[in-house]
Amino acid sequence: MSGSHLPGAPVRLRPATGQDADFLADVLLEAFNWDGARHTSAEMLRMPHIAHYVTGWPRAGDFGVVAEDDTGRPIGAVWARTFPADDPGYGHVAPDVPELTLGVLPGHRGRGVGSALLDALVETAARSSVDLLSLSVEDGNPAVRLYAARGFTVVGREGESDTMLLRLAGPTPERPEV
Ligand SMILES: CC(C)(COP(=O)(O)OP(=O)(O)OC[C@H]1O[C@@H](n2cnc3c(N)ncnc32)[C@H](O)[C@@H]1OP(=O)(O)O)[C@@H](O)C(=O)NCCC(=O)NCCS
Repeated sequence: MSGSHLPGAPVRLRPATGQDADFLADVLLEAFNWDGARHTSAEMLRMPHIAHYVTGWPRAGDFGVVAEDDTGRPIGAVWARTFPADDPGYGHVAPDVPELTLGVLPGHRGRGVGSALLDALVETAARSSVDLLSLSVEDGNPAVRLYAARGFTVVGREGESDTMLLRLAGPTPERPEV
């Protein structure tokens, strides 16, 4: 994983590490506030159903990718983690299906960073033999076009959001269709 060929200033992609916990919380804020600030960071991190996307980062099984600008400053991230059935994420499909969160800082959007992050996450998942990735996207969020273009399909509904799923591997006989 290294520099990607995006228009504008160079962008470097690298695996997310434990040092990125605070930045992932910033990106979580962007993802939940995609249509304008509804919550502050402090408020969000007090809400367990939101905070659990980053709590204890990284846990076993978590994986993610950070995009940096040419000065090494993080400008976007995507990561995936699984959730138990009794503490599901908004895009929960099954306890063994990682759910992803994606965001790019304002000012760095619209030049391919989000697409490059998502592609890198999918590559990382495939290398780790992860065969399904899920996500939740709220009605009206144009990010849905990015997900659909990458092969995610709608498999469920939670509140005012679609649950989308990407199948990285062919269906396996022991896994029920979702
Ligand atoms: C969604 C997001 C990560 C996309 O990152 P990005 O770097 O802007 O994405 P790209 O430049 O790679 O564009 C990819 C596609 O995203 C779609 N898209 C996402 N947000 C868009 C917006 N606000 N307006 C128009 N298109 C948008 C477009 O289809 C675009 O493809 P196209 O240019 O071929 O039409 C970024 O806009 C973001 O952080 N948004 C706020 C947080 C958020 O909504 N996260 C997702 C929660 S489900």
